Amino acid sequence: MAEVTNLNEAQEAAVAAGLDLERLPAHIGIIMDGNGRWATERGLPRLAGHRDGYKTLRSVLLFANDLGIRYLTVYAFSAENWRRPEDEVHGLMSLIEQAAVDELRVMHQNNVRVRVAGRLNEVPEGLRRALERGVETTAFNTGIVFTLAVNYGGRAEIVDAVRALASEGATPDDITEEAISKRLYNPDIPEPDLLIRTAGEMRWSNFLLWQGAYAELVVADMPWPAFSLDDLVSACIEYQNRTRKFGGVGR
Ligand code: FPP
Repeated sequence: MAEVTNLNEAQEAAVAAGLDLERLPAHIGIIMDGNGRWATERGLPRLAGHRDGYKTLRSVLLFANDLGIRYLTVYAFSAENWRRPEDEVHGLMSLIEQAAVDELRVMHQNNVRVRVAGRLNEVPEGLRRALERGVETTAFNTGIVFTLAVNYGGRAEIVDAVRALASEGATPDDITEEAISKRLYNPDIPEPDLLIRTAGEMRWSNFLLWQGAYAELVVADMPWPAFSLDDLVSACIEYQNRTRKFGGVGR
């Protein structure tokens, strides 16, 4: 490993656990699954699981920023989550809005740059405004780029990109991988290197479908509220132990 000097606390702990700071995944995506089960097992309402999941997300984000991860994208509300009971949908929307308002200062102080991905035109106005304010306020920050996928679906994103092309008058020859990539919600954000899903589920669930084509997948057994900073380090170490081939034969 190349020598890294002046490590912060997060980096020291990660190096001690065996992580190579020179080969960190640049972009991590997380499917934060298992909030409901975590709550139900404790005899709590499902929303209590989402609230605890929010606390986990906060600490994972700040730790990832300290580690030197450049991009973190999380699935906060999928385009399919509208099918949940109305009170849970409402509770999740309120929780994300509250978090966007309450955490803005902390995000800004920690140099986090907030982004969003999803059909924001379909979410309640208060939530949309809170998210837009977060994006605007932190637009010039240079730390981790934190993308909240809200009312996000991978297929919908591809449909939206192709619709954008069609509305520009694209001919069949204009429809290339590059043209579609450029019209995704955040074309400037590189593709994820590592996708983590918690609660042991081996599904991709319509998350970053296009961008995740060559991502390494790590499934962690614990539900999201129980996911620890050590678990993040372990997932990164597992990523470093994989050989990425991108369809070739590897190194
Ligand atoms: C999946 O668990 C989790 C979600 C659908 C929502 C994720 C939201 C948070 C972590 C909290 C709020 C986020 C922000 C950005 C403040 P699940 O409910 O599907 O769990 P289950 O499979 O056990 O039912």
